[in-house]
Amino acid sequence: MNMRLVTRVTLGFAVAAPLAIGPNIEAQAAEDFIKIGEVGSTTGSEATFGVATHQGVDLAIKEINATGGIKGKKLKVILLDDQGKPEEAATATTRLITQDKVTAIIGEVASSRSLAMAPIAQQYKIPMISPSSTNPKVTEIGDYIFRVCFIDPFQGFVMARFAAENLKIKRVAILRDVKNDYSVGLAKYFTETFKKLGGDIVLDQSYSAGDIDFKSQLTAIRATKPDAIFVPGYYTEVGLIARQARSLGIKVPMMGGDGWDSPKLLQIGGKAMEGAYFSNHYSAEDKSPHVQAFIDRYRKAYKDTPSGLAAMGFDATMVLADAMKRAKSLSTSDIRAALAATKDFQGVTGRISIDQQRNAVKPAVVLKVVNGSFAYESTIRPG
Ligand code: PHE
Repeated sequence: MNMRLVTRVTLGFAVAAPLAIGPNIEAQAAEDFIKIGEVGSTTGSEATFGVATHQGVDLAIKEINATGGIKGKKLKVILLDDQGKPEEAATATTRLITQDKVTAIIGEVASSRSLAMAPIAQQYKIPMISPSSTNPKVTEIGDYIFRVCFIDPFQGFVMARFAAENLKIKRVAILRDVKNDYSVGLAKYFTETFKKLGGDIVLDQSYSAGDIDFKSQLTAIRATKPDAIFVPGYYTEVGLIARQARSLGIKVPMMGGDGWDSPKLLQIGGKAMEGAYFSNHYSAEDKSPHVQAFIDRYRKAYKDTPSGLAAMGFDATMVLADAMKRAKSLSTSDIRAALAATKDFQGVTGRISIDQQRNAVKPAVVLKVVNGSFAYESTIRPG
């Protein structure tokens, strides 16, 4: 097991006078904390997912602790890095539950890793909340598994509708990551809606996470003369794919989903990303006071504009804290019941109600890459 412990403790305050308190007090005080586990990729090719999410989680924890905590206790988050590997995510989950004795778990971002974690959380009856895993199967694993984001049948619908109605295109080629449950699912849901809207999938090609050469797939795609290429993968591969597509003379727009949400997409893809469209959970350009107030606080803490992932990490933590406040006790079954009853919780990424399947039903935004940043294009609501 080579999992890395990133942060043992995040406290909203510092223990100021160790000499006056004495050596035992710290252990004793630890019982007054509600321990929350977090599993994320803070290293590896999806490192920005884990780092951004944790910054959102941490900001939420600090705000909750600064306003008195929950039922007289402060929150403490224990973050474990899974390096972007499902096996490590599973190991981390077991460790958080059996050794650290956490009350709830936040994670993962990537659906494949949430799918590796969820059976363990379910088995131990520890509530698990994924901030941003969108594959439907994640919450189907059991009644202790929740998410605060929309799911991919909706996200696929959003991009298919955007392609057909806003871009008015008919012929799309797909390039999916077959090692990634999210990518495979989103390609499928996009295809379903796009065909219903009268569109054609002219070619469906695949790659495997970690690949660096996509020229043969792109050459085949080029031959079909599509109007756009849908690449529902993660930013590292997508950036490379975009560059290689441009170098092969492919000029049509690239489209994708929330897995593109990283500043690294623009670093890796550079100019090749210009004019591309992707769906996401939030836009930093949203004028809503909830969004703008969050951005202000986040910038004060991290000197950076929050990504969708940071906003989702923040919302997942706030939804959990809200459930803990409403729960009859801090037993995991009472917290689970309170989470399931979440209704109209005002998050940064919209109002969050947990449905019967333990998913959140929320709008999605479409963003466009313009001059090296993510510009707001449109909002698509469910239903
Ligand atoms: N939705 C992606 C998945 O399920 C993860 C993701 C969410 C990535 C948001 C980036 C931003 O795998």
